[in-house]
Amino acid sequence: MNIGIIGAGNIGANAALLFANAGHSVAISNSRGPESLTAQVGEIGGDTRAATVEDAASFGEVVLVAIPFWRYETLPSARLAGKVVIDATNYYVGRDGRIDFGDLTSSEVVALYLPDARVVKAFNTMYYETLRTEGNPSDGHRLVLFVAGDDDEAKAVVSGLIEEIGFEPIDTGSLRDGGRKQQPGTPIYNNPMTAEQVRGTLAGL
Ligand SMILES: NC(=O)c1ccc[n+]([C@@H]2O[C@H](COP(=O)([O-])OP(=O)(O)OC[C@H]3O[C@@H](n4cnc5c(N)ncnc54)[C@H](OP(=O)(O)O)[C@@H]3O)[C@@H](O)[C@H]2O)c1
Repeated sequence: MNIGIIGAGNIGANAALLFANAGHSVAISNSRGPESLTAQVGEIGGDTRAATVEDAASFGEVVLVAIPFWRYETLPSARLAGKVVIDATNYYVGRDGRIDFGDLTSSEVVALYLPDARVVKAFNTMYYETLRTEGNPSDGHRLVLFVAGDDDEAKAVVSGLIEEIGFEPIDTGSLRDGGRKQQPGTPIYNNPMTAEQVRGTLAGL
């Protein structure tokens, strides 16, 4: 599969590495442009290239967005039409400034900005070092990566990728209700858990 990455920092670069290791073709991008990504492309290896944000969006059948949340309005909305877009961003007032989005979740805000994209909230709950190192554990007890969204087919695509890189996908529900369960401050946020450990926790949310 062709996978575009917008934001090649802690989360974007490590997700790119895992996708490339799983045999996917990957285009990484950032705000400074492809020439700033030469070293990272070498480190990731496999079939990886540097691209502009627009070209990474066009390249990917799936596009992972891993930028500071407050910059969501720079995303190339038209290029992302019809794409499965993984929203890995989180809203932190300290970093992103105070943004009033009423009772919407941050991923609903992103989805409103990308009206023709198939937005799935995923890869947002796990610390990047855990993501990088804890896939495919030798004891077989895989850690969970959560998916939320309103497009079941898109969630299935993202869940397949999660399985390929050695984690266990669990669907938390719609972008609104599931997305809320995945936001910072919830019991499943930044709390590495196996599927068994998650079951009781999610039931109580
Ligand atoms: N760190 C984690 O463990 C973690 C875990 C889950 C989710 N997240 C979420 O994932 C997002 C990224 O976090 P991070 O820790 O990976 O951040 P980071 O290491 O600071 O990386 C951010 C990346 O986004 C790029 N970027 C910034 N503005 C951009 C724009 N307008 N268009 C394209 N690329 C842009 C940066 O490129 P330049 O340097 O060229 O600007 C950089 O490559 C945040 O929303 C965060 O809350 C983080």
